[in-house]
Amino acid sequence: MKQRKTSSSAGIGRVSDTPGTRGHRDHQGNRAPHAARSAKHPAVREQAPSPFWETAPAALEPARLPEENFSVQVAARHYVRPLLEELGSRVLGARGRLVLARGSAPAAWAQNVWLQPLWLPVASIGDAARQLTALQRNWRAHVPPPGVEPGFRRRLALIGERLPHVGTRPLAFGSPMPTAPLGAFTLWRDDLLLASPRTTSAFADGELLFQENRDDPPGRAYLKLWETFTLLGRRPQPGELCVDLGAAPGGWTWVLAYLGCRVFSIDKAPLDPRVQRMPEVNHCIGSGFALDPRITGPVDWLFSDMICYPEKLLDTVLRWLEAGACRNIVCTLKFQSETDHETARRFAAIPGGSLRHLSCNKHELTFVRLAD
Ligand SMILES: C[S@@+](CC[C@H](N)C(=O)[O-])C[C@H]1O[C@@H](n2cnc3c(N)ncnc32)[C@H](O)[C@@H]1O
Repeated sequence: MKQRKTSSSAGIGRVSDTPGTRGHRDHQGNRAPHAARSAKHPAVREQAPSPFWETAPAALEPARLPEENFSVQVAARHYVRPLLEELGSRVLGARGRLVLARGSAPAAWAQNVWLQPLWLPVASIGDAARQLTALQRNWRAHVPPPGVEPGFRRRLALIGERLPHVGTRPLAFGSPMPTAPLGAFTLWRDDLLLASPRTTSAFADGELLFQENRDDPPGRAYLKLWETFTLLGRRPQPGELCVDLGAAPGGWTWVLAYLGCRVFSIDKAPLDPRVQRMPEVNHCIGSGFALDPRITGPVDWLFSDMICYPEKLLDTVLRWLEAGACRNIVCTLKFQSETDHETARRFAAIPGGSLRHLSCNKHELTFVRLAD
């Protein structure tokens, strides 16, 4: 991508220091609990005195900002480290949650990917807003996390005020996804925007917020299924048979029963009594691994939110697939302090499968495979 020229290079406010002279800022600007423990990647030594972009494979000096064949992969809050590890040699540099990477293939740990990144020199706040609206109508700013470029927060807000209004109301479950393209931008320097008219998510930073139900489901895990079904534009249909492994206290089972499905749930623990009482819910105390797909017979959907090693979950999923016993699968890969990227890759390689980090996933990825 070429830098777009503007009539002035006066910049917006103060002139920032260049990358490489920023001192000892936290490169992620968040509490990234997992950033501390690995020396595998130069970016993930939490005690490292230098921010990431000083030790990146290619320094992010303006003269060497990537111009073409790159994307901006936005890490989930607190999960920059697994994104950097997954992208590996594709990483060109990073700031806060934004990782500049070779190519545009979305990483599983990226909640949003800026597919058409442009460097836009800007002369003023008004100029920034004008240039963005000339490209398209809908934009949302990526605001750096606290501690990363704090001076940019106010200016990004001022630019945002001059842009056409974009609704930010939490979604009601069942509403369709917004269809209008949503662009993303941030200030890279006082006088330089990084902006992308095309992104992979219809939500700012890929964060899908719902109007939550705080009364009926036990816990908040139900949001994982709401998000999955919303992103897929698909959900189990009334009467379909669902197996829910690791179901307690019952948020997922509640979602499925609420949709009118027949649910066979299993957990070492009981369900919340309100969920247990729902019609069509049949709960069994036991291990989800003990359920033999050759004996249960085919089900429409297999769900798992069991706390277990991803490898063990993979064995289980493959067993169900090999037995031809489930048409659709939604399951959560839960990681301990280290991210098991190898097993994640094996999940992603399952034909028809996909892996992504949902807004409400913690140190987890959600695997989905639909029959058609
Ligand atoms: C994160 S919770 C599940 C939350 C659930 N999806 C919900 O919406 O309420 C994980 C559950 O996995 C269960 N679990 C762990 N190992 C299991 C196993 N081998 N078989 C069945 N359940 C298991 C735990 O008892 C726990 O209830």
